[in-house]
Amino acid sequence: MRIDIITVLPELLESPFSHSIMKRAKDKGLLEVYTHNLRDYTPYKQAQVDDYQFGGGAGMVMMPEPLALAIEHLQNERKYDEVIYMTPDGQLFEQKTANSLSMKENLIIICGHYKGIDDRIREHFVTMEISIGDYVLSGGELAAAVVVDTVGRLLPGVLNDETSALFDSFQDGMLAPPVYTRPADFRGWKIPDILLCGDPKKIDDWRYEQSLKRTEQRRPGLLDE
Ligand code: ADE
Repeated sequence: MRIDIITVLPELLESPFSHSIMKRAKDKGLLEVYTHNLRDYTPYKQAQVDDYQFGGGAGMVMMPEPLALAIEHLQNERKYDEVIYMTPDGQLFEQKTANSLSMKENLIIICGHYKGIDDRIREHFVTMEISIGDYVLSGGELAAAVVVDTVGRLLPGVLNDETSALFDSFQDGMLAPPVYTRPADFRGWKIPDILLCGDPKKIDDWRYEQSLKRTEQRRPGLLDE
């Protein structure tokens, strides 16, 4: 999978994909992430990319021309499955969105700043708008990093144990069960006996019950869905 991110702050996106699982995904050639500085595409003086909003009001708006040129430059190189705009008024990002994005080949992600981007870009280029939660970040970069990380770890071959993403919280509409590692007795706090019984079926049943219990207690709404 290839992801191209259009941003005014490419530096902010250097670290998130350079460590751990995302690094491994890139090293294995399973995920390519490229950042593009929007200022490289502006025809305006002093690398201007934003301007006052028509009709008045506080806050700058990202101009359409640099964004259109950046998107078209990429689209001339290859076909993209989605042009995603990160915005607090987009559809809420959920595991099922990540699952479906992980099956795409090429994605463009646009990071907004200030008051957002000129609405004509949303109308004519953007195919999907994503919010990572009901709060406002100072820009779309951290939100884009969340989406790339969530989608990237789902690509086949990225996780060591291919099955492990299947048991993540939310993957089957439930929260994950509790997990334990050595020692089995830590300061007198013992792990549940069943995990030492050696019977995989019993352990699976226990994990399922625990998932159900956690979901009922913490996120009952998930079970209604
Ligand atoms: N940009 C600013 N806030 C955001 C949010 N909550 N989700 C996605 N992009 C954003």
